[in-house]
Amino acid sequence: MQDFSHPHERLTAEQKLHLLVEFGSRISSELHLDKLLDIIAQQITQMLDAGRCTIYLKDDNSQELWSKIAQGKGLEHTEIRIPLNSDGFIALVARTGQTINLPNAYEDPRFSIDVDIVTAFRTHATIAVPLKNNAGEVLGVFQVANKSDGTPFDKSDEGLLKLLGTLAAGSIEIAKLYQEVRVAQLETIYRLAVTAEYRDQQDTRQHLKNISIISYLLALSLGMSKSESELIKNASPLHDIGKVALADNILLKPGKLTPEEFETMKSHTIYGGRILEGAHSKVLQMAHKMSLYHHEKWNGSGYPKGLRGEDIPLEARIVTVADVFDALCVFRVYKKAWRTEEALAYIKDESGKSFDPRIVEAFQKIYPSVKRLYAHISVNKPDIKKSSVPNKTKPN
Ligand code: C2E
Ligand code: SIN
Ligand code: SIN
Ligand code: FE
Repeated sequence: MQDFSHPHERLTAEQKLHLLVEFGSRISSELHLDKLLDIIAQQITQMLDAGRCTIYLKDDNSQELWSKIAQGKGLEHTEIRIPLNSDGFIALVARTGQTINLPNAYEDPRFSIDVDIVTAFRTHATIAVPLKNNAGEVLGVFQVANKSDGTPFDKSDEGLLKLLGTLAAGSIEIAKLYQEVRVAQLETIYRLAVTAEYRDQQDTRQHLKNISIISYLLALSLGMSKSESELIKNASPLHDIGKVALADNILLKPGKLTPEEFETMKSHTIYGGRILEGAHSKVLQMAHKMSLYHHEKWNGSGYPKGLRGEDIPLEARIVTVADVFDALCVFRVYKKAWRTEEALAYIKDESGKSFDPRIVEAFQKIYPSVKRLYAHISVNKPDIKKSSVPNKTKPN
């Protein structure tokens, strides 16, 4: 029996009931785990009139409890991990499934001040209750600290916290499943992309990561939403997936391609398009357009279709700038690495020719961040291309 009929100091039963209903509806519509946990923590802080609420979830792989703690509004979250077998009271609650209430945390040997140190917070009274699912399994721990009136947490707080945990457990389990699916999808995409680039890249992972980051920064800088930009980030590693279909004698040719070989090389866009055609997920649909159109040029001189201007899908126009910049800055079997400044000059020079001028503008804005991605490369590859006469080296 939960005693939320027991009136709280500051909230009437009616207000509390209202908050509970709101809590239930807000959490049931949130599928993103981090956002869900933020909402739950914020609501619990409000309902218990506390200074802070921290939600720890069990990571069954690593046998740890983890939490992301906001360092203040709009600031980065700090991830905290506690081994499940540690002596602290959070781990104890997770192991035993029993609530622990500490009227004065710093006087109790089970309380560790590590988290307080990391987050610059002073815990006084605190209570931790297990978060259990319908089957009674412990999913994690809700910890609340510092009631605003300075008193310890009582039975009523404990009951309310357990009730909120019961209400939240189902949503948390669903959001965890969604996250697992998302992570699995991203891992699969990424490994697929690595497969495609495996043969012709010195440092495949770095290359894919850089293109992905540059595409993401470009998208944000162009004013696209965070979720749209993330799709671009996640899809971009697949832009050259069609290279899996190319024979080694072309892909790995140490020198210049003959015009015939270059014609064959061009077909990686068509292959990529076929591989990703008809996909259902948004990220693969985007990857489809990127792989098919990432060698189109703004002035219509690109391949495979010779599309021009805004007929080229925006995501392809974005990834092409990221792709070319990266290709110039790194070593290839057929070319040396350029300095980032030289590559930037090339990108600017190609504005309105190869590239969408708006995207070149955005690229100049993000260039300081981009440059940092390549800081280590010139050290590894001291032999830098001297003069960059674009397209002179191009077959035909
Ligand atoms: P990639 O190496 O990933 O290069 C991607 C794009 O970056 C190129 O598309 C081109 O637009 C630009 N790029 C790369 N290196 C240079 C350069 O030295 N100068 C200039 N101006 N631009 C450069 P592109 O040309 O359509 O080539 C597509 C893919 O074909 C390349 O992907 C690469 O895998 C292959 N490739 C192109 N030329 C040669 C070559 O001469 N030899 C060999 N072995 N492969 C080549
Ligand atoms: C996370 O945000 O913690 C993982 C990635 C995601 O779920 O979007
Ligand atoms: C090359 O043909 O050497 C690379 C591609 C280009 O110069 O555009
Ligand atoms: Fe390509």
